Order: sequence, then structure tokens, then C-alpha cells
Amino acid sequence: MGVKSLPMKGRGFVCQECGHRFPGWLGRCPSCGTWGSLVEEVGEEPRRRPPGTSSPPPVPLLEGADEGVSRLNTSMGEFDRPLGGGVVEGSVVLLGGAPGMGKSTLLLQVLGALSLQGVPVLYCSAEESLRQVRLRARRLGLRGPGPLTMATASLEELLREVDRVKPRVLAVDSLQALYTSELPSPAGSVAQVREVAARLTPLAKASGMALFLVGHITKEGVIAGPRLVEHLVDVVLYLEHRADSPYRVLRAVKNRFGSTNEIGVFEMTDRGLQEVKNPSEIFITERPEGSPGSVVMPTVEGTRPLLVEIQALVAPAPGGIPRRTAMGVDYNRLLLLVGVLEKRVGIDLSHRDVFVNVAGGLRVSEPAVDLAAVAAILSSHLDRPSPPSTVVFGEVGLTGEVRGVSYGEERVAEAQRLGFTQCILPRSTARKVRVDGVRLLGVREVRELIPLLEGRR
Ligand code: TYD
Ligand code: MG
Repeated sequence: MGVKSLPMKGRGFVCQECGHRFPGWLGRCPSCGTWGSLVEEVGEEPRRRPPGTSSPPPVPLLEGADEGVSRLNTSMGEFDRPLGGGVVEGSVVLLGGAPGMGKSTLLLQVLGALSLQGVPVLYCSAEESLRQVRLRARRLGLRGPGPLTMATASLEELLREVDRVKPRVLAVDSLQALYTSELPSPAGSVAQVREVAARLTPLAKASGMALFLVGHITKEGVIAGPRLVEHLVDVVLYLEHRADSPYRVLRAVKNRFGSTNEIGVFEMTDRGLQEVKNPSEIFITERPEGSPGSVVMPTVEGTRPLLVEIQALVAPAPGGIPRRTAMGVDYNRLLLLVGVLEKRVGIDLSHRDVFVNVAGGLRVSEPAVDLAAVAAILSSHLDRPSPPSTVVFGEVGLTGEVRGVSYGEERVAEAQRLGFTQCILPRSTARKVRVDGVRLLGVREVRELIPLLEGRR
């Protein structure tokens, strides 16, 4: 970004969002643009190897045996899935998410399940007292003696216990609350977060212990963002939701041991996070079938097909100033689709508000949502429900052409599994798909949707 950061020595002001360092205080970080994120820090950062470790000599790459990764199954499939099929031994996993999302709850459940299998685990709570964690564990209904737990914010105390207990899985809750007494800056500062992560991660590599680091994400910039340590870890998971939805999506945004964008779905209940094994069912159950503006789309998250409901509302714009609102889909994409409808299909939306929403608080970021969004907008505008038992997907280009997308077969199969009998999709994709019991309606241009919505084809 053209902003030079200073070396990590002496006093300085450090942006708690992006980690850039400046000689003086500024109201806004010139590097990442965050307001009020600069905090004074004494930035010595002792960069050293743990004693006794030295690099092995280089070897010819293709000689010698493969050291395949070994994984622990947590028995919570929705947790194992985004990890790539279980907890990899020796891996470092950052679990990020806004406060209150359920990170502590999830880890406690996972460690509870592992300890029940006899896996030695250690849960370090640096934010909550042992009593609070115990109350939560009771509420969650954990069985057996529960995971070995300690409440401390001191890195040195934790390291002592790790050395003594030698857990196979360690969860640190949270990275921002832990501090080392070797640095004068407060817990949660950039220097502390970096140091704590840099001292813990080699332990995992050296001993094969899996390490989970909880990282809170805040917008205020007071606490150092977990993005600071993303490069140090093997896997970055985010626990997220939108609006007030009880559903939580656990998503891998980085994974050295598996594909990214795999998701696990949970529901927050009064007894913790429950796995949602059939997410397609819940995300479309409340769908107002037969009402205009609602369209079901088979999306793919990672490699997992998932049915979601795309809703649109086209309404007269008060005062003649049209608004476009996108919830769960990309805003610029919505503007593009509205443009295509106006210019290529001849639909006049210039005096109309257009709202598009993904039901259930989900987010769909793949282009295959285009055709479903367009169908929902047209359906609302024409006041025609989309055809019964029908799903829609496909990418839309600027000339109104409908472009093929990947995972056609998987999408249609998922729709079939949930009882849908018809699918509107790109013609080029339709040629490659065959699923018994589903009628495929291949389209090449957006305008072909109109006769389909009007039941003329
Ligand atoms: P928590 O795990 O503390 O979130 P985080 O560690 O990400 O900050 O969970 C926070 C919310 O979850 C809290 O608002 C209460 C709610 N919750 C339930 O609804 N049911 C439960 O069984 C538990 C333990 C928490
Ligand atoms: Mg917590």
C-alpha cells in the first residue's frame, strides 16, 4: 500500500488492525485506513528458536518415505469437515469470530468429545474463571470427568503445564487474553499477540500436539486482530453468522491440509452448538412456497452442495429514488444484475426499490447465484411465483448470457435428494448433467426466464 513500516524496535505506534508501525500517533492508520487503531507500544520482539531445536539438513525432496498426516476424529462431523476430515496432529488452527459467536462453547464441546475418547487434552481459559467454564460445561451436558482445564492468562504458567501434561490437543482461549511477562506491552497488543503465537506454534510442530488458538475479531481496533497471526498457522477457521440467526457456519478460509471454503453448520441452542447434518433442509423449510420473489438455489460451499432460498422484493420507490439492497449477496453484483435486466431484458426498474436477501442469514458469494437472484427479482416484479419444485442456478454475464458453472451434477443431485423435480440452469451445464427424476431446463439468456416464470414453457 506504499506505506513503510518501521523496524520492530524501540517505541512506536502500532496499528492494532494491520500491525503497521509509525513513529507518531495518527487518528487513522495510513496503511489500512482504520480509525483510532494506533496504540503506543514498546516493540522489542525477541525472535528466537526454542532451545534445543535446530534445522535438519536439506534432503533430496523425492527420496524417503511420505509422512502422511494423521488425524483425530472429534466425533463432531461438522467440526471435522472444515478441517479437512479431522484434527491434524501437530497442526495450528486459528479459530476466529466475533465475541459471542460461540468459539469457547465450540472448543469446549470438541475437547469434551475428545477427552471422552481418552485423548489427552488441555483447555486453557485466559478470559473466564474455572468456575465459569465449569458452569458452561455442565450446561453443555459434557459427560465423564470433562477435559483437563486451567484458567490462566500467563503464557509462562501455560507452558509449564503443557510440558507436564503433554496434551495431544491444546486449546488457548483466547490469544488476545494471554500474555508473556517478558514484554511490557499489555495483553492483546500486537507485540503480545505475535509473541504468544510465536512461542506456542513451535511446540505444536515439535511435539505433534494440535493447537487451537481462539482469536476475537473486533472492529474497534483495540485488540490486535487475528489476521496478524494468519501466516503463522496452518488452518484458519471462522465461526460466523448473520443477523440474529441461531445458525453458525464454521468456515475454513485457509487450510494447508484440506480444501478451503468447506463449511460445518451448527445451531446455537440452550445446550450449546448442535450439529446441523442436513443444512439444506433447514435453510429452505420456512420457505413461502408459491409466493412471488422466492427462489431455491443449490449453492456449493467448498465441495458441499447446499440448498438456500434467495428472496427478492421489487417495490415502488418512495420519492422516486430507487434503492438497491443486498443481504447475503454481493452489492455490486446486484447492481450489475439490475443493469442487465433493464438493458437486456427491457424491465424498467428505475422507479423501483430492489431488495435481495439470502434467507437464514447465509452468504452466497459464488457467481452461480446470479440466475437465482435474477429469477427472484423477475418473480417479484412480475408478481409470479417461481415454478413449483424448481431450483435455479447459473452465472449471468453483461450481455445477458447465462454462463456455465461447476458442480452441476452435485447441485442437481442435492435438489433431487430434497424432492425437487425441475431445475433451471445454464444450457452448457445442462448438457453435462444427468440426474434421474429431475427435468432440466437449460437457458442461454436471461430473457428465457420470463416464459418459464409465466408457465409458458
Ligand atoms: P461463547 O462460546 O462464550 O462465545 P465466544 O467465545 O465466541 O465469545 O458463546 C456466547 C453465546 O452463546 C452467549 O451469548 C450465550 C450463548 N450460549 C447459548 O445460547 N447456549 C449455550 O449452551 C451456551 C454455552 C452459550
Ligand atoms: Mg469466549
